[in-house]
Amino acid sequence: MTHLVSELTQLERIPTQIYESADAACLTVADAITDLIQQRNAAGKATVLGLATGSTPVRLYRELIRRHQQEGLSFANVITFNLDEYYGLAGDHPESYRKFMQDQLFDHVDLKPENTYVPDGLVDRDAVFQSCKDYEAAIADAGGIDIQILGIGRTGHIGFNEPGSGPETLTRLVTLDNLTRRDAARDFLGEENVPRHAITMGVGTILAAHQLFLLAWGEGKASIMAQTVEGKQTETIPATFLQQHNNCTFCIDQAAASQLTRQCHPWLVGRIEWTEETTRKAVLWLAQKTGKSLLKLVDEDYTENGMSDLLVEQGPAYDLNIRLFNVTQHTITGWPGGKPNADDSHRPERATPYPKRSLILSPEPLDDVYCLGGTINRLKQHGNQVTIAYQTSGNLAVPDTEVRRAIELMIELGTDRIGEADLSYATTVETQLNEKGSFGADTSEIRQLKGLIRRSEARSSARTLGIDTESLHFMDLPFYEEGRYRRFIVTQADIAKMCELLETVKPHQIFATGYGHDPLSVPALSFEILSAALEQCAGSEWFKDCNIWLYKGPADEWEAHEIDMAVPLSPDEFENKIQGIYQHQTQRSQSPGRASKKSSNSWDLAREINCGTAEIYDALGLAEYEAIECFKRYSK
Ligand code: GLP
Repeated sequence: MTHLVSELTQLERIPTQIYESADAACLTVADAITDLIQQRNAAGKATVLGLATGSTPVRLYRELIRRHQQEGLSFANVITFNLDEYYGLAGDHPESYRKFMQDQLFDHVDLKPENTYVPDGLVDRDAVFQSCKDYEAAIADAGGIDIQILGIGRTGHIGFNEPGSGPETLTRLVTLDNLTRRDAARDFLGEENVPRHAITMGVGTILAAHQLFLLAWGEGKASIMAQTVEGKQTETIPATFLQQHNNCTFCIDQAAASQLTRQCHPWLVGRIEWTEETTRKAVLWLAQKTGKSLLKLVDEDYTENGMSDLLVEQGPAYDLNIRLFNVTQHTITGWPGGKPNADDSHRPERATPYPKRSLILSPEPLDDVYCLGGTINRLKQHGNQVTIAYQTSGNLAVPDTEVRRAIELMIELGTDRIGEADLSYATTVETQLNEKGSFGADTSEIRQLKGLIRRSEARSSARTLGIDTESLHFMDLPFYEEGRYRRFIVTQADIAKMCELLETVKPHQIFATGYGHDPLSVPALSFEILSAALEQCAGSEWFKDCNIWLYKGPADEWEAHEIDMAVPLSPDEFENKIQGIYQHQTQRSQSPGRASKKSSNSWDLAREINCGTAEIYDALGLAEYEAIECFKRYSK
């Protein structure tokens, strides 16, 4: 593939294509694979594919399956080699990469089972070295890998080549990084269950493939993507060694590309059009970079940072500073539902109608209070009609120990106090828990009970925020109830349920999240469902008068220039929010999403994020608040 270097991409050391969506990127890669297989099939030769696991390639595999089923693409002459496998897991373990590949691809196409290679996770410790050599030999015997698909971990690993892996490394046993294990914690229902070792192809093995495609989606990957594409080659970020390959393309979505210089600071590498959006982004960035408040920026700050054009067009600095100060000032409001009888020409939310019907969408219980607990409380206090809808039950995130506690309580009450049927239900669930072990799939009874435990926590939390429990909707969207992390499939049934809720509530404003997240994550799918439902409701009267506010969540925050509404919280209001978070007891030991932040629990992370935003506003020269929750306007 030819790499066109332009002014904007001059800092990029790997050809990188940015797509509107993950699906669009997957189509390009699926086309390359299809072309190769068809050419090889026609020539009576085999195609050798290197495959990856994780959420990232799932949509690509779905597209390949579709082409097999609907367009007759045959994998009968394809040989596959997977990058890696957790050491210690049997091939039928629900979280083994062998099982993942069977479920996500192998079982749905005509690949010959003997042609699918995944490192053996159960090989005896003494035999690991030989087994890794055999894996390399098998790749060589097949003629080498024609196309290798890669994802990327947040440590910059490819396969499981963690920091420290050099470009010469071959297939071997490795120790997993803590961040990698934390990222896998949800799949394994707790970090302590994540294996400590894995067998992985080496960086050298990967570099030997003829063509490489690395895929990455969502903002969680944006930072590592920028470091890999624009940074120097280093063992600290093994993916940077891909810069050595002469046929490697990164196919990524907008969110994953958001920290590349051409996306986040384009004025540093070329001439750009100064729209309202880019101006706001650049000036707020300039203030943060120079450590000055907006009103203290001077002409030199602009000229020394690639913004001379802006100064010519809209300067001098004094004018630009005042204008951007006012724009930022106007994002601040204590009235997230709009202030009745007030001039709303510079307020984020309109004054009428009042009171409003405010719909809070929370992908799982906890997202609501954690990301906008203070705002919810304000909306209610100002007399708005607040509805909180939990899109999924969140039952996958409840540890078995919590179910066991509930069951033991019921058993202890005994038939004297609860009925025969209740007791027999409790003992049945107890048996199911014992039988499934640590990693077995939950039975429907266990999942239901886990969901109910989260409901009770959500109620308790909502009460802390002043919301009565009749205002809560537990949607239990089917994609989640019938799925498992990384394997969810959205259907019309999900969209229909969302439409029904929207048509019942007829909201004047909706608070939602999931935009820009990893497309297979629960928030992203919840948002996809909302978008589809909004499209279907576009003809309804309420839709025309409905504002949509995006909260970033669950472990991140909008950047200053993205904020359209900033709701300040007093110290007391913020403490109340923290109390609300505490009510989610089952989530105390859970990692609050893929945070790159310091804190490892949701209340500390909420403090870090909300107080951090307040500090940013303060440093920009605006009022000093204790904490701020913020939102971005979404255009329907
Ligand atoms: C694991 C795999 C990698 C994968 C990475 C990212 O560490 N060994 O091959 O690229 O996860 O996972 P995800 O695609 O879920 O973000």
